[in-house]
Amino acid sequence: MPSGCFLPLPIPFRETPGADTPDRLSGDQPRTHEHRMNTDQTKQRTALITGITGQDGSYLAEFLLAKDYQVHGLIRRSSTFNTRRIDHIYEDIHERGRHLTLHYADITDANSLACLIRAIEPDEVYNLAAQSHVRVSFDMPIFTAETAAMGALKLLEAVREYEKNQGKRVRYYQASSSEMYGKVRETPQSEETPFHPRSPYGCAKVFAHWATVNYRESYDMHCSCGILFNHESPRRGETFVTRKITRAACRIKLGLQDKLYLGNLDAQRDWGFAGDYVEAMWLMLQQEQPDDYVIATGQSTSVRDFLQRVFSSLDLDPDQHVVIDPRYYRPAEVDLLLGDPSRAKEHLGWTPKVDLDGLVRMMVDSDMELARREETLRKAGHALRGGA
Ligand code: NAP
Ligand code: GDD
Repeated sequence: MPSGCFLPLPIPFRETPGADTPDRLSGDQPRTHEHRMNTDQTKQRTALITGITGQDGSYLAEFLLAKDYQVHGLIRRSSTFNTRRIDHIYEDIHERGRHLTLHYADITDANSLACLIRAIEPDEVYNLAAQSHVRVSFDMPIFTAETAAMGALKLLEAVREYEKNQGKRVRYYQASSSEMYGKVRETPQSEETPFHPRSPYGCAKVFAHWATVNYRESYDMHCSCGILFNHESPRRGETFVTRKITRAACRIKLGLQDKLYLGNLDAQRDWGFAGDYVEAMWLMLQQEQPDDYVIATGQSTSVRDFLQRVFSSLDLDPDQHVVIDPRYYRPAEVDLLLGDPSRAKEHLGWTPKVDLDGLVRMMVDSDMELARREETLRKAGHALRGGA
């Protein structure tokens, strides 16, 4: 049982689950995985996830719970609910033998991180917290660096101090990004490809990446970086391009909106499914030796092609609805990302299970369900927005 300066956090009771409560969505069920493991399987392990309320954090929490971990999540204080993606796995703090505990802290607050690590005594730490939107990072470069770069360093320091004082080994995962390759030096990109970031977000992730490598080399810590290429899901934030497209297309289909405003359609990305990618995070921490791994599908697709696939699947013509708005262009763009996941395949035995068509289907099915609910409420005369 964790002790120390943190009280477990109750999630405020909500009478009606969030409309997109994940376990209700088709193709979005918690999954179980069987793997060879290098660590002691008899002892129940404890994991801390920063960014547990995000897309990846929610899938990772499900994944670890299915493996019988004690999962602790760091969540930041917000004036509105920010636990929508994990409400379905939340266990009331009054329940005995629960497996998921949430704690208030912030990735920018070194004291809260050190306190949390001491209280939880984790075997594994997954650092997923960050301001993760590339376009927004141009508007908020300093906050982006405070979370994505300095946040990682503060967490590494907290883990180092804990290891030093308690004599315990912790396995640490850093959420590095293909955005670090930026203006790519070679295609496909591998673990050996030099970085050339093109955004404040990319710069911050490069700092966090090298800090993590440096802690591994300097202090012999078990730190691994997953250089993850874009991964999406029905839980993807609504302002990332794939989700923006699937959500808008479904609402257009039902007559709930008419136009979709987008930026650069020529950018190409290597898009996979988030549920597959969290498995790779876990596999990295099960290895005897820490290392860095590219996690990608090895297929690249343009935003235009993704748009066409989604609209075609709904018998819609993008030319009738899509408007280019330069507001969504970036001061510097990453034109092409294509990952080479050979090392992950060879060392981790990891390969993605969901292909692009499967991903599109999953996201369209989920967003169509949401659009239908919205249509039903509107037809019944209910107000759909905020306020008491
Ligand atoms: P996401 O959905 O944007 O989630 C980000 C998480 O970070 C959320 O839980 C957010 O909390 C939390 N966070 C932000 N600022 C924080 C702060 N000051 N203190 C504590 N928590 C904070 O991102 P994601 O797609 O799950 O990605 C997870 C990680 O992988 C991120 O670091 C991202 O940069 C990286 N990554 C993502 C991809 C991708 O394609 N998805 C690819 C490569 C790397 P709130 O819910 O309260 O906002
Ligand atoms: N968001 C957004 N909105 N992107 C658009 C739009 C739009 O309206 N129109 C075109 N795009 C283009 C962007 O210019 C970019 O080239 C591409 O679509 C993908 O944009 P995002 O979905 O915002 O993702 P990203 O590639 O910038 O960043 C994501 O992937 C990184 C890994 O490479 C994020 O998840 C990062 O956190 C992650 O590290």
